[in-house]
Amino acid sequence: MLSISSTLREKVSQPLKIGSVEVKSRVLQSPLSGVTDLVFRRLVRRYSPNSMMYTEMVSATEIHHLKQLPRLMEIDPNEQPISIQLFDCRPDFMAEAAQKAVGEGAKTIDINMGCPVNKITKKGGGSSLLRQPEIAENLVKEVVKTVDIPVTVKTRIGWDDNEINILEFAQKMEDAGASMLTLHGRTRAQGYTGNARWEWIKKVKKILTIPVIANGDIFSVEAAINCLEITGADGVMCSRGTLGYPFLVGEIDYFFQTGKELIKPTSIERLECAKEHLKGLWEYKGKRGIYQARKHLSWYCKGFIGASELRDKVSRIETVEEGYFLLDKAMKLINNN
Ligand SMILES: Cc1cc2nc3c(=O)[nH]c(=O)nc-3n(C[C@H](O)[C@H](O)[C@H](O)COP(=O)(O)O)c2cc1C
Repeated sequence: MLSISSTLREKVSQPLKIGSVEVKSRVLQSPLSGVTDLVFRRLVRRYSPNSMMYTEMVSATEIHHLKQLPRLMEIDPNEQPISIQLFDCRPDFMAEAAQKAVGEGAKTIDINMGCPVNKITKKGGGSSLLRQPEIAENLVKEVVKTVDIPVTVKTRIGWDDNEINILEFAQKMEDAGASMLTLHGRTRAQGYTGNARWEWIKKVKKILTIPVIANGDIFSVEAAINCLEITGADGVMCSRGTLGYPFLVGEIDYFFQTGKELIKPTSIERLECAKEHLKGLWEYKGKRGIYQARKHLSWYCKGFIGASELRDKVSRIETVEEGYFLLDKAMKLINNN
Protein backbone atom coordinates (compact mmCIF):
# COMPACT_ATOMS: atom_id res chain seq x y z
CA MET A 1 0.00 0.00 0.00
CA LEU A 2 1.37 3.38 -0.98
CA SER A 3 1.07 6.17 1.54
CA ILE A 4 1.14 9.89 1.01
CA SER A 5 1.19 12.66 3.62
CA SER A 6 -1.89 14.84 3.92
CA THR A 7 0.15 17.93 2.98
CA LEU A 8 1.32 16.31 -0.25
CA ARG A 9 -2.14 14.92 -0.96
CA GLU A 10 -3.55 18.42 -0.70
CA LYS A 11 -0.81 19.90 -2.90
CA VAL A 12 -1.09 17.38 -5.74
CA SER A 13 -4.84 17.76 -5.97
CA GLN A 14 -4.35 21.46 -6.78
CA PRO A 15 -3.56 22.71 -10.30
CA LEU A 16 -0.03 23.66 -11.22
CA LYS A 17 0.36 27.34 -12.09
CA ILE A 18 2.99 28.09 -14.69
CA GLY A 19 2.77 31.86 -14.95
CA SER A 20 -0.57 32.56 -16.59
CA VAL A 21 -1.12 28.91 -17.53
CA GLU A 22 -2.96 26.58 -15.20
CA VAL A 23 -2.35 22.86 -15.61
CA LYS A 24 -4.62 20.36 -13.89
CA SER A 25 -1.92 17.74 -13.36
CA ARG A 26 1.34 17.88 -11.44
CA VAL A 27 2.86 15.04 -13.40
CA LEU A 28 4.64 16.06 -16.58
CA GLN A 29 5.94 14.06 -19.52
CA SER A 30 9.50 15.18 -20.25
CA PRO A 31 10.93 16.13 -23.61
CA LEU A 32 12.80 13.12 -24.99
CA SER A 33 14.67 13.52 -28.23
CA GLY A 34 13.80 10.74 -30.66
CA VAL A 35 10.84 9.70 -28.51
CA THR A 36 8.25 12.35 -27.62
CA ASP A 37 6.85 12.92 -31.07
CA LEU A 38 3.16 13.42 -31.73
CA VAL A 39 2.53 9.66 -31.86
CA PHE A 40 4.09 8.94 -28.46
CA ARG A 41 2.47 11.95 -26.83
CA ARG A 42 -0.93 10.78 -28.02
CA LEU A 43 -0.43 7.49 -26.15
CA VAL A 44 0.75 9.21 -22.96
CA ARG A 45 -2.16 11.64 -23.09
CA ARG A 46 -4.71 8.87 -23.33
CA TYR A 47 -3.78 7.88 -19.78
CA SER A 48 -3.07 11.37 -18.49
CA PRO A 49 -5.18 13.86 -20.46
CA ASN A 50 -4.32 16.89 -18.32
CA SER A 51 -0.54 16.54 -18.15
CA MET A 52 1.87 19.03 -19.65
CA MET A 53 3.89 17.43 -22.41
CA TYR A 54 6.92 18.55 -24.35
CA THR A 55 8.06 18.22 -27.92
CA GLU A 56 11.52 16.88 -28.58
CA MET A 57 14.10 19.66 -28.34
CA VAL A 58 14.32 21.83 -31.46
CA SER A 59 17.30 23.94 -32.52
CA ALA A 60 16.51 27.63 -32.83
CA THR A 61 19.34 28.00 -35.35
CA GLU A 62 17.73 25.34 -37.50
CA ILE A 63 14.38 27.09 -37.26
CA HIS A 64 16.06 30.31 -38.36
CA HIS A 65 17.72 28.76 -41.39
CA LEU A 66 15.05 26.38 -42.62
CA LYS A 67 12.29 27.58 -44.91
CA GLN A 68 9.79 25.16 -43.39
CA LEU A 69 9.38 24.55 -39.68
CA PRO A 70 10.85 21.22 -38.53
CA ARG A 71 8.26 18.50 -38.10
CA LEU A 72 9.40 18.15 -34.49
CA MET A 73 7.33 21.27 -33.78
CA GLU A 74 4.12 19.83 -35.12
CA ILE A 75 1.30 19.86 -32.61
CA ASP A 76 -2.05 18.16 -32.90
CA PRO A 77 -4.76 20.80 -32.33
CA ASN A 78 -6.33 18.44 -29.76
CA GLU A 79 -3.22 18.00 -27.64
CA GLN A 80 -3.08 20.57 -24.91
CA PRO A 81 -1.35 21.52 -22.70
CA ILE A 82 1.87 21.28 -24.66
CA SER A 83 5.19 23.07 -24.57
CA ILE A 84 7.72 23.37 -27.37
CA GLN A 85 11.28 22.91 -26.16
CA LEU A 86 14.01 24.94 -27.84
CA PHE A 87 17.77 24.86 -27.53
CA ASP A 88 20.40 27.35 -28.62
CA CYS A 89 22.68 30.03 -27.24
CA ARG A 90 21.66 32.93 -29.49
CA PRO A 91 19.00 35.09 -27.93
CA ASP A 92 17.88 36.52 -31.30
CA PHE A 93 17.38 33.07 -32.86
CA MET A 94 15.72 31.85 -29.69
CA ALA A 95 13.25 34.73 -29.66
CA GLU A 96 12.44 34.18 -33.33
CA ALA A 97 11.94 30.44 -32.74
CA ALA A 98 9.76 31.13 -29.71
CA GLN A 99 7.47 33.33 -31.80
CA LYS A 100 7.11 30.54 -34.33
CA ALA A 101 6.42 28.06 -31.52
CA VAL A 102 3.58 30.28 -30.33
CA GLY A 103 2.23 30.21 -33.88
CA GLU A 104 2.26 26.41 -33.74
CA GLY A 105 0.11 26.42 -30.61
CA ALA A 106 2.60 26.02 -27.75
CA LYS A 107 1.18 26.83 -24.30
CA THR A 108 4.66 27.52 -22.93
CA ILE A 109 8.20 27.72 -24.29
CA ASP A 110 10.78 25.58 -22.55
CA ILE A 111 14.47 26.34 -22.91
CA ASN A 112 16.81 23.36 -22.76
CA MET A 113 19.77 24.06 -20.48
CA GLY A 114 20.47 20.47 -19.53
CA CYS A 115 21.33 18.45 -22.62
CA PRO A 116 24.74 16.79 -22.03
CA VAL A 117 25.43 15.77 -25.65
CA ASN A 118 28.74 17.09 -26.98
CA LYS A 119 27.32 18.15 -30.33
CA ILE A 120 24.96 20.52 -28.49
CA THR A 121 27.24 21.73 -25.68
CA LYS A 122 30.12 22.50 -28.06
CA LYS A 123 27.88 24.99 -29.81
CA GLY A 124 27.00 26.64 -26.50
CA GLY A 125 23.57 25.05 -25.99
CA GLY A 126 22.09 22.59 -23.49
CA SER A 127 24.00 22.09 -20.24
CA SER A 128 26.93 24.28 -21.33
CA LEU A 129 24.68 27.22 -20.44
CA LEU A 130 25.22 26.28 -16.78
CA ARG A 131 28.76 27.56 -17.34
CA GLN A 132 27.55 30.69 -19.09
CA PRO A 133 24.90 32.01 -16.73
CA GLU A 134 24.87 35.48 -18.36
CA ILE A 135 24.07 34.01 -21.75
CA ALA A 136 21.39 31.81 -20.18
CA GLU A 137 19.93 34.86 -18.48
CA ASN A 138 19.85 36.79 -21.76
CA LEU A 139 18.14 33.91 -23.51
CA VAL A 140 15.34 33.89 -20.96
CA LYS A 141 15.00 37.69 -20.92
CA GLU A 142 14.86 37.92 -24.69
CA VAL A 143 12.23 35.20 -25.05
CA VAL A 144 10.14 36.57 -22.17
CA LYS A 145 10.23 39.98 -23.86
CA THR A 146 9.16 38.52 -27.21
CA VAL A 147 6.28 36.19 -26.42
CA ASP A 148 3.19 36.47 -24.24
CA ILE A 149 3.19 32.87 -23.04
CA PRO A 150 5.21 31.59 -20.05
CA VAL A 151 8.86 30.73 -20.58
CA THR A 152 10.32 27.85 -18.57
CA VAL A 153 13.79 26.37 -18.11
CA LYS A 154 14.90 22.75 -17.80
CA THR A 155 18.39 22.20 -16.46
CA ARG A 156 20.74 20.10 -14.33
CA ILE A 157 22.40 20.76 -10.98
CA GLY A 158 25.76 21.76 -12.49
CA TRP A 159 28.48 20.86 -14.97
CA ASP A 160 30.27 18.38 -12.71
CA ASP A 161 30.87 17.76 -9.01
CA ASN A 162 33.32 20.67 -8.85
CA GLU A 163 30.84 23.03 -10.45
CA ILE A 164 27.47 22.54 -8.82
CA ASN A 165 26.13 26.04 -9.26
CA ILE A 166 22.40 25.40 -9.46
CA LEU A 167 21.47 27.63 -6.53
CA GLU A 168 22.85 30.81 -8.11
CA PHE A 169 21.83 29.66 -11.57
CA ALA A 170 18.23 28.89 -10.66
CA GLN A 171 17.87 32.25 -8.93
CA LYS A 172 19.19 33.98 -12.05
CA MET A 173 16.64 32.18 -14.22
CA GLU A 174 13.80 33.24 -11.94
CA ASP A 175 15.06 36.83 -11.89
CA ALA A 176 15.29 36.80 -15.69
CA GLY A 177 11.58 35.99 -15.89
CA ALA A 178 11.33 32.19 -16.09
CA SER A 179 7.90 30.98 -14.94
CA MET A 180 8.99 27.47 -13.91
CA LEU A 181 12.19 25.51 -13.46
CA THR A 182 12.49 21.78 -14.07
CA LEU A 183 15.53 20.34 -12.40
CA HIS A 184 17.16 17.07 -13.37
CA GLY A 185 19.10 16.14 -10.24
CA ARG A 186 22.30 15.15 -12.00
CA THR A 187 25.36 17.00 -13.21
CA ARG A 188 26.25 17.12 -16.87
CA ALA A 189 29.22 14.84 -16.13
CA GLN A 190 26.89 12.22 -14.68
CA GLY A 191 24.96 11.92 -17.93
CA TYR A 192 22.26 9.46 -16.92
CA THR A 193 24.38 7.46 -14.47
CA GLY A 194 24.30 7.31 -10.68
CA ASN A 195 21.33 8.45 -8.67
CA ALA A 196 19.53 11.70 -9.24
CA ARG A 197 20.43 13.93 -6.31
CA TRP A 198 17.01 15.04 -5.15
CA GLU A 199 18.59 16.90 -2.20
CA TRP A 200 19.62 19.63 -4.64
CA ILE A 201 16.04 19.92 -5.87
CA LYS A 202 14.98 20.48 -2.26
CA LYS A 203 17.56 23.27 -1.87
CA VAL A 204 16.42 24.96 -5.07
CA LYS A 205 12.75 24.66 -4.12
CA LYS A 206 13.51 26.47 -0.85
CA ILE A 207 14.90 29.56 -2.56
CA LEU A 208 12.65 30.01 -5.61
CA THR A 209 9.16 31.40 -5.74
CA ILE A 210 8.31 29.98 -9.19
CA PRO A 211 7.26 26.31 -9.38
CA VAL A 212 10.08 23.78 -9.30
CA ILE A 213 9.55 20.44 -11.03
CA ALA A 214 11.60 17.47 -9.89
CA ASN A 215 13.15 15.28 -12.55
CA GLY A 216 15.41 12.23 -12.42
CA ASP A 217 14.69 8.61 -11.50
CA ILE A 218 10.90 8.86 -11.41
CA PHE A 219 10.22 5.27 -12.46
CA SER A 220 7.12 4.53 -10.37
CA VAL A 221 4.26 6.03 -8.38
CA GLU A 222 6.24 5.29 -5.25
CA ALA A 223 9.30 7.16 -6.54
CA ALA A 224 7.10 10.13 -7.45
CA ILE A 225 5.66 10.29 -3.93
CA ASN A 226 9.09 9.89 -2.28
CA CYS A 227 10.60 12.52 -4.49
CA LEU A 228 7.89 15.08 -3.71
CA GLU A 229 7.98 14.27 0.02
CA ILE A 230 11.77 14.73 0.07
CA THR A 231 12.10 17.75 -2.19
CA GLY A 232 8.88 19.65 -1.58
CA ALA A 233 8.84 20.26 -5.34
CA ASP A 234 5.66 21.34 -7.10
CA GLY A 235 5.46 18.38 -9.45
CA VAL A 236 7.37 15.55 -11.05
CA MET A 237 8.51 15.00 -14.60
CA CYS A 238 8.84 11.44 -15.91
CA SER A 239 11.47 10.54 -18.48
CA ARG A 240 13.16 7.16 -19.02
CA GLY A 241 10.42 5.49 -17.02
CA THR A 242 8.08 6.17 -19.93
CA LEU A 243 10.19 4.42 -22.57
CA GLY A 244 8.05 1.49 -23.71
CA TYR A 245 5.66 2.43 -20.91
CA PRO A 246 3.45 5.40 -21.83
CA PHE A 247 1.24 4.46 -18.86
CA LEU A 248 3.54 5.89 -16.17
CA VAL A 249 2.46 9.55 -16.19
CA GLY A 250 -1.17 8.44 -16.01
CA GLU A 251 -0.50 5.99 -13.18
CA ILE A 252 1.11 8.69 -11.06
CA ASP A 253 -1.53 11.27 -11.91
CA TYR A 254 -4.32 8.83 -11.06
CA PHE A 255 -2.81 8.20 -7.64
CA PHE A 256 -2.39 11.94 -7.05
CA GLN A 257 -6.01 12.61 -7.99
CA THR A 258 -7.68 9.68 -6.22
CA GLY A 259 -5.25 8.23 -3.68
CA LYS A 260 -5.81 4.88 -5.38
CA GLU A 261 -3.44 2.75 -7.40
CA LEU A 262 -4.33 1.83 -10.96
CA ILE A 263 -4.00 -1.81 -11.91
CA LYS A 264 -0.88 -2.16 -14.02
CA PRO A 265 -1.34 -3.09 -17.69
CA THR A 266 -0.84 -6.76 -18.49
CA SER A 267 1.85 -7.92 -20.92
CA ILE A 268 -0.86 -8.28 -23.57
CA GLU A 269 -2.05 -4.73 -22.99
CA ARG A 270 1.51 -3.45 -23.25
CA LEU A 271 2.02 -5.32 -26.52
CA GLU A 272 -1.31 -4.03 -27.87
CA CYS A 273 0.00 -0.57 -27.06
CA ALA A 274 3.29 -1.38 -28.82
CA LYS A 275 1.30 -2.38 -31.89
CA GLU A 276 -0.64 0.83 -31.83
CA HIS A 277 2.60 2.79 -31.40
CA LEU A 278 4.05 1.03 -34.45
CA LYS A 279 0.91 1.73 -36.49
CA GLY A 280 1.02 5.39 -35.48
CA LEU A 281 4.68 5.78 -36.43
CA TRP A 282 4.10 4.05 -39.76
CA GLU A 283 1.14 6.27 -40.61
CA TYR A 284 2.89 9.45 -39.47
CA LYS A 285 6.43 8.91 -40.75
CA GLY A 286 6.33 6.02 -43.22
CA LYS A 287 9.50 3.94 -43.56
CA ARG A 288 11.45 6.24 -41.22
CA GLY A 289 8.76 5.56 -38.62
CA ILE A 290 9.43 1.82 -38.91
CA TYR A 291 13.11 2.34 -38.19
CA GLN A 292 12.25 4.55 -35.22
CA ALA A 293 9.70 2.00 -34.02
CA ARG A 294 12.42 -0.63 -33.63
CA LYS A 295 13.77 0.89 -30.40
CA HIS A 296 10.28 1.64 -29.05
CA LEU A 297 9.11 -1.93 -29.66
CA SER A 298 12.16 -3.37 -27.96
CA TRP A 299 11.45 -1.19 -24.89
CA TYR A 300 7.96 -2.69 -24.67
CA CYS A 301 9.37 -6.22 -24.64
CA LYS A 302 10.01 -7.02 -21.02
CA GLY A 303 8.46 -8.96 -18.19
CA PHE A 304 7.09 -11.99 -20.08
CA ILE A 305 8.44 -15.30 -21.29
CA GLY A 306 10.21 -14.89 -24.61
CA ALA A 307 10.62 -11.13 -24.16
CA SER A 308 14.35 -11.03 -24.86
CA GLU A 309 13.98 -13.09 -28.04
CA LEU A 310 11.17 -10.87 -29.22
CA ARG A 311 13.22 -7.76 -28.38
CA ASP A 312 15.94 -8.98 -30.65
CA LYS A 313 13.52 -9.60 -33.52
CA VAL A 314 11.52 -6.37 -33.28
CA SER A 315 14.71 -4.35 -33.27
CA ARG A 316 15.34 -5.53 -36.83
CA ILE A 317 11.91 -5.15 -38.46
CA GLU A 318 11.77 -3.75 -41.99
CA THR A 319 8.02 -3.46 -42.46
CA VAL A 320 4.93 -2.70 -40.43
CA GLU A 321 3.53 -6.16 -41.30
CA GLU A 322 6.62 -7.83 -39.89
CA GLY A 323 6.13 -5.92 -36.65
CA TYR A 324 2.42 -6.83 -36.43
CA PHE A 325 3.23 -10.47 -37.12
CA LEU A 326 5.84 -10.68 -34.35
CA LEU A 327 3.68 -8.86 -31.81
CA ASP A 328 0.55 -10.90 -32.63
CA LYS A 329 2.52 -14.12 -32.36
CA ALA A 330 3.92 -13.09 -28.97
CA MET A 331 0.44 -12.18 -27.71
CA LYS A 332 -0.93 -15.54 -28.82
CA LEU A 333 1.87 -17.32 -26.99
CA ILE A 334 1.23 -15.34 -23.80
CA ASN A 335 -2.50 -16.08 -24.08
CA ASN A 336 -1.82 -19.80 -24.43
CA ASN A 337 0.40 -19.96 -21.35
C1 LIG B 1 16.56 9.27 -25.01
C2 LIG B 1 16.56 10.54 -24.22
C3 LIG B 1 16.28 11.74 -24.86
C4 LIG B 1 16.26 12.94 -24.14
N1 LIG B 1 15.94 14.10 -24.79
C5 LIG B 1 15.81 15.26 -24.08
C6 LIG B 1 15.37 16.46 -24.71
O1 LIG B 1 15.10 16.52 -25.92
N2 LIG B 1 15.24 17.57 -23.92
C7 LIG B 1 15.52 17.54 -22.58
O2 LIG B 1 15.38 18.57 -21.90
N3 LIG B 1 15.92 16.43 -21.98
C8 LIG B 1 16.05 15.28 -22.67
N4 LIG B 1 16.42 14.14 -22.04
C9 LIG B 1 16.59 14.15 -20.58
C10 LIG B 1 15.29 13.75 -19.86
O3 LIG B 1 14.24 14.63 -20.17
C11 LIG B 1 15.48 13.72 -18.32
O4 LIG B 1 15.88 14.98 -17.89
C12 LIG B 1 16.49 12.66 -17.89
O5 LIG B 1 16.32 11.46 -18.60
C13 LIG B 1 16.41 12.39 -16.38
O6 LIG B 1 15.23 11.76 -15.99
P1 LIG B 1 15.16 10.15 -15.72
O7 LIG B 1 16.25 9.81 -14.75
O8 LIG B 1 13.79 9.95 -15.14
O9 LIG B 1 15.35 9.51 -17.04
C14 LIG B 1 16.53 12.95 -22.75
C15 LIG B 1 16.83 11.72 -22.10
C16 LIG B 1 16.84 10.55 -22.82
C17 LIG B 1 17.15 9.26 -22.10
